[in-house]
Amino acid sequence: MNLILLGPPGAGKGTQARRLSDKLKVPQISTGDLLRAARAEKTALGQKAESYMVSGRLVPDDLVIEMIGERLKKEDCRAGWILDGFPRTLPQAETLQKTSKIGRVVNIGVDRDEVILRLSGRRQCGGCGENFHVSFHPPQKEGVCDRCGKGLVQRDDDREDVIRKRLDVYEKETQPLIAYYRGQGVLRDVRGTGSIDEIFGAIVQAVG
Ligand code: AP5
Repeated sequence: MNLILLGPPGAGKGTQARRLSDKLKVPQISTGDLLRAARAEKTALGQKAESYMVSGRLVPDDLVIEMIGERLKKEDCRAGWILDGFPRTLPQAETLQKTSKIGRVVNIGVDRDEVILRLSGRRQCGGCGENFHVSFHPPQKEGVCDRCGKGLVQRDDDREDVIRKRLDVYEKETQPLIAYYRGQGVLRDVRGTGSIDEIFGAIVQAVG
């Protein structure tokens, strides 16, 4: 089954997509993670994406669409996938629609104040990308990933001014996708506040 997790920055898309991927045995594909990897490797794509990402703007559609198109052609996507962070604009959604059947879109709702609290305290593993939070979801050993043992870092777009910009961009560019997928009958809403386990249970139910 092909699944999409929608929601504002900090809604918990990455946290929940990783758990769903473990449960459903299909890959979690995060365009944010792919772009951060391209930046770390200093590829041409990474260099083009950098200024957009650090200022909280979206990377241009053509670059992201090409990148995800290549990823979805890989062998591990044959049985399905979970997209986290894509699509984020109507042109991205319309392009995806031409090549893929979408089974379910889960829209995780969280308000602005909660997003700011979450993202300003987020720490991300530099190895496997697992997300932690200094208060809400701390690692067992400070600064070290529970999953792979690598060091945790703060993302360069998790500064309050950039978080506010990302939220504005989400409201303008990405929120219209809620109506787009609702109109197709594939969207389910899940409340994104509560414990990570409770939200996971609600998402599993929504996926069916
Ligand atoms: P991306 O990496 O996709 O960032 P995002 O959408 O802003 O989402 P986040 O990763 O910030 O949040 P999340 O919902 O995954 O939450 P998480 O699980 O980490 O994109 C980054 C940038 O790349 C974009 O700004 C753009 O420039 C570019 N980009 C990416 N995709 C693109 C596209 N398609 N088109 C164009 N440009 C694109 O959780 C957040 C925190 O909250 C963590 O600390 C976590 O531990 C904590 N938390 C999670 N759940 C809970 C809970 N229930 N209670 C308390 N805390 C919780």
